[in-house]
Amino acid sequence: MSAGLVQAAYIIAAVFFIMSLAGLSKQESARAGNYYGIAGMAIALLATIFGPHSSGIAWILLAMVIGGGIGIHLARKVEMTEMPELVAILHSFVGMAAVLVGYNSLIDAPILTTHAEHMIHLVEVYIGVFIGAVTFTGSIVAFGKLRGVISSSPLNLPHKHKLNLAAIVVSALLMKWYLGSDGGLLPLFLMTLIAFAFGYHLVASIGGADMPVVVSMLNSYSGWAAAAAGFMLANDLLIVTGALVGSSGAILSYIMCKAMNRSFISVIAGGFGQEVAVSTGDEEQGEHRESSAEEVAEMLKNSKSVIITPGYGMAVAQAQYPVHEITEKLRAQGIEVRFGIHPVAGRLPGHMNVLLAEAKVPYDIVLEMDEINDDFPETDTVLVIGANDTVNPAALDDPTSPIAGMPVLEVWNAQNVVVFKRSMNTGYAGVQNPLFFKENSSMLFGDAKESCMKIIEHL
Ligand code: TAP
Repeated sequence: MSAGLVQAAYIIAAVFFIMSLAGLSKQESARAGNYYGIAGMAIALLATIFGPHSSGIAWILLAMVIGGGIGIHLARKVEMTEMPELVAILHSFVGMAAVLVGYNSLIDAPILTTHAEHMIHLVEVYIGVFIGAVTFTGSIVAFGKLRGVISSSPLNLPHKHKLNLAAIVVSALLMKWYLGSDGGLLPLFLMTLIAFAFGYHLVASIGGADMPVVVSMLNSYSGWAAAAAGFMLANDLLIVTGALVGSSGAILSYIMCKAMNRSFISVIAGGFGQEVAVSTGDEEQGEHRESSAEEVAEMLKNSKSVIITPGYGMAVAQAQYPVHEITEKLRAQGIEVRFGIHPVAGRLPGHMNVLLAEAKVPYDIVLEMDEINDDFPETDTVLVIGANDTVNPAALDDPTSPIAGMPVLEVWNAQNVVVFKRSMNTGYAGVQNPLFFKENSSMLFGDAKESCMKIIEHL
């Protein structure tokens, strides 16, 4: 394949990636968006493998078969609820790849004609390795926190912000040494160690409640790491793709921060400026009431309007199918049923929308939090299915709560609220929920799927 043809293929692939992002922004076009992405990646891979700069094609194919095999195996095995963990570990690969490409590009440097070009290349390598190393360890910590092998509470080292600042200042000084020694390996290596520690510390300092933002932020970093690798390899497509991932990840992080009323800067700077006294809400909350499936079915039959607010527990129980069945039965009886989706319900952006779409719940009754929050006072019954943090009134009432300031679904304003969960345990953020003790709330204990099936029997 000639160089010109490869460039043409890269442009076509870049257009496919842009179409993919556009498609993924709406549920109706998400499937097409995925196909565009696959097509773009297939074109990019073929053009690179058969392009003029590749040799040892047999080795590349062998690596692809092994990597592809592992990828297919993992993708088949992974549960929807484990998806963010998988995404986090994949980001760490991108970070490590950028580090390795950086070292390789320094040791096996391209022939550059001018001094300026040479210096630019050295700077590209340095920045690429820095971003890659931060992404690598940061993503591993995010993986550990999401999987529960690392505590989700923020690491609070003394002078943590000064430590972060020191890491950046020392890295900048090392860069001076590195450039002065015409790309010395030692300063680059020392900076890599610092960047590894910096990435670890940055993400470890962020509390569990902010993890959704962290995952999308690491997504963004991995994009910039890929773009940096693109500069080092002089590969235009990698630069474009990295920039697309980097900027879309940054936009998503910003949207999530707004949805959770978090300061973007404070989250990406490792919880900067968040040192307030934190309460877990463990103090005595009063009595809770319990309901049976039969009582809930009766309550639903006597309602005119119902809102269902699903959360992580619906995903764990795979309750979306019986939830859809309840919806259809109620709608057949002329009862209005709608869904209220919190932007960070579940464990990944759009988690609930995907589950409901899977169960064929019509899109037009699935509303965003902002679209439905004012309707709770006129609603007869709310079913909270496996949600906890996203319906916690402490976010609005208790300034010391770890989730203080996060907008929540104000379900308690409805006539009746039924909470489906297995126990009085806390949700992801580890805080007690005063909703469970309100007078108009009752608990339906048990696995959400089984509870829904029992309700269907009584409807
Ligand atoms: P959570 O606050 O995580 O609460 C889920 C509840 O589901 C738990 O209290 C649990 O109570 C219940 N549950 C678990 N398995 C169940 C089952 N089989 N049947 C019935 N109930 C079950 O959920 P949420 O309201 O969706 O909030 C999401 C949280 O995750 C937020 O704090 C958010 O910041 C965080 N987070 C979100 C994301 C994204 S991007 N969405 C990513 C990472 C983290 P029991 O144990 O008592 O059953």
